[in-house]
Amino acid sequence: MSSEKLETLKARLGEVSDIHSAISLLHWDQEVMMPPKAAPGRGQQLATLSGLAHRLFTSPEIGELLHDLHEGGTLTGDDAKLVSEGLHDYTLATKLPETFVQKLAIAQSSAYEAWVKARAASSFADFQPHLQGMVDLMLEKADHLGYENSPYDALLDEYERGMTADYLGGLFGDLAPRQSALVDRIVNAPNQPDLAWLDQEWDPDAQWKLSVKILKEMGYDFEAGRQDKSVHPFSTNFDITDVRITTRINPRDLFSGLMGSMHEGGHALYEQGLRESDRRTPLGQSISLGIHESQSLTWENIVGQSLPFWKRQTARLIKAYPGQLDGKTPEDLYRAVNRVQPSFIRVEADECTYNLHVILRYEIERALIEGQMKVSEVPEAWNAKVKQYLGLDVPNDAMGCLQDIHWSHGSIGYFPTYALGNLYGTQFLEAIEVALPNLWSDIEAGRFAPLLGWLRTNIHQVGRRMTASELITHVTGKAPSAEPFMKYLEEKYLPLYGLA
Ligand code: CO
Repeated sequence: MSSEKLETLKARLGEVSDIHSAISLLHWDQEVMMPPKAAPGRGQQLATLSGLAHRLFTSPEIGELLHDLHEGGTLTGDDAKLVSEGLHDYTLATKLPETFVQKLAIAQSSAYEAWVKARAASSFADFQPHLQGMVDLMLEKADHLGYENSPYDALLDEYERGMTADYLGGLFGDLAPRQSALVDRIVNAPNQPDLAWLDQEWDPDAQWKLSVKILKEMGYDFEAGRQDKSVHPFSTNFDITDVRITTRINPRDLFSGLMGSMHEGGHALYEQGLRESDRRTPLGQSISLGIHESQSLTWENIVGQSLPFWKRQTARLIKAYPGQLDGKTPEDLYRAVNRVQPSFIRVEADECTYNLHVILRYEIERALIEGQMKVSEVPEAWNAKVKQYLGLDVPNDAMGCLQDIHWSHGSIGYFPTYALGNLYGTQFLEAIEVALPNLWSDIEAGRFAPLLGWLRTNIHQVGRRMTASELITHVTGKAPSAEPFMKYLEEKYLPLYGLA
């Protein structure tokens, strides 16, 4: 009976999902609560649980159930989709030999240590052999996973399923010169804002309270989540009823804590909005990292850095920081939060320059994987691209090619998802503006429910029933493109800098 087998499969997959939730909770604790001496023990516990989850998931029982149900051909609709998604994950999980997984884990921990030291010393030469090792391992991984055109496709697929190096090349090849030209015009515009007033101390308590207030207005459910502080802000989830976020408050920065909370809140709203009936199954998961990032950027950038948003929030900020923002208008705050400034560090970059940081990383890692660039050539290539795209001279490797942790983990194919989030988010926005003609007046009134409702119906509730490209084409009528994002940037920033 296939219905019995399906119930058994769901029960087994549910167990694996529960272990993954426990792993995520231990990770949350590690970042937020754990005392420092607990680190080695925690590493052990995480390794044990990860091994257990992997063994359970790749067990012959689950394999047989998935194959029988898939090949039986009697399932339809969501049941068929659940099985095909489960089989996809199972096939991936069983493609990597255990010897490879162990070899990678060892290389990751020594590459990470070497990266920390090399960055502190600003010496790429110290990291170079480890990066070479990672590139070799990633090529081996791509061979295990299999690919048609480029080994980069196999790596990318893990983070952005269905996306290919060639398609990305088209998107980014279109975007990079146009975005770079726009940044150049902005930097040279005569109409530069005077933001000296931002240089003040902003009460951390007031920052925290504001972020909580706005998260509540966005629709983040504090009964099914919580906000804490951590060094690196993140969001994590154990179930739709427990989706947590963290933030980092910088007393010298009026905006970064609030925008960080809105960013993580956007990720969390996605996870809180997955379908109740999909819990503990592969369908009850987000589609891809790019779609996830589109949700965080919708709230942080599209909403949180819009003029209608600041028309409502400015009065609140004036009240929250007595005597510090007197006489400031919504337009002043809007200008300040949207300041454009090419910089060396990706995580500090503004919306207008951010993708350029991502695209140069993509170009370098793809060239490494496809054998068009040697690892020894990375610093020179990096510095040349920063000059080309951002007009800056990189002073040293720490501010350049050593700044990000990703390559030390072997996370190659990950960076593009950050830029895809921007492209997807603005492409969705075009559809949202058609569906919700009052979108901006609602935001000005602090009414976020219509927007959240649209995101829930059209994106969150889909779970893993479509790939990112399928979802975008389904919702917007067009394949993923760089056009909406460029249009969004130009419509926003040209008037801000007196260029239109
Ligand atoms: Co994010």
